[in-house]
Amino acid sequence: MEFCVRPATVDDAERLAEIDLIPEVRPWLDLPPEASRGRDAWVRANREWVEHPEHHCVVAVLPNGFVAGSVTLRYTRNDLDGVCLALKVDPEYQGQGIGSALLRWVIETADAVPLARVYLAVLRSNSLAIALYARHGFVYAGPTAHDCDRMVRHRPRRHHR
Ligand SMILES: CC(C)(COP(=O)(O)OP(=O)(O)OC[C@H]1O[C@@H](n2cnc3c(N)ncnc32)[C@H](O)[C@@H]1OP(=O)(O)O)[C@@H](O)C(=O)NCCC(=O)NCCS
Repeated sequence: MEFCVRPATVDDAERLAEIDLIPEVRPWLDLPPEASRGRDAWVRANREWVEHPEHHCVVAVLPNGFVAGSVTLRYTRNDLDGVCLALKVDPEYQGQGIGSALLRWVIETADAVPLARVYLAVLRSNSLAIALYARHGFVYAGPTAHDCDRMVRHRPRRHHR
């Protein structure tokens, strides 16, 4: 499947909200209460999400411009830690490498900043996502609240001769 990964803009907010609210996607994302206050409120929340200065949000886009998925890496320049947030792919386009490509973007960006660690939280029952994260070097880092596990990926050490 052909697609590219580009930074999200506020114009993507509507589509990002739409993906969040797809019944096969929503239960896996830890959506805040605004998500239940109607579509408009959720589009607004996504707009604020994309504009947040610590959110580095990208979208996976098909050749026709359709946004099929997204992920956000949250970090500040003076922080060693990042957080991978809201990895999501429209079920119509899952299983074709988009989720892996978005996660690779997270890792490459984190290593380039460079961040020492990237954390994420995942529902313990989300075995597909956990396997995906594990294949990309994330390891179990303990439980968090609400049936979630924390995973972490450490930036690989450079080998010096
Ligand atoms: C997790 C998620 C982002 C993966 O996106 P994706 O585009 O399907 O990812 P990929 O196509 O790169 O596939 C990742 C792996 O899962 C496997 N996979 C994907 N969909 C699958 C399916 N329906 N059945 C079985 N395996 C599947 C792929 O074979 C691939 O394995 P591989 O790397 O060994 O080839 C997507 O399933 C999703 O949006 N889920 C709902 C939201 C969610 O759970 N987000 C994570 C919150 S922590």
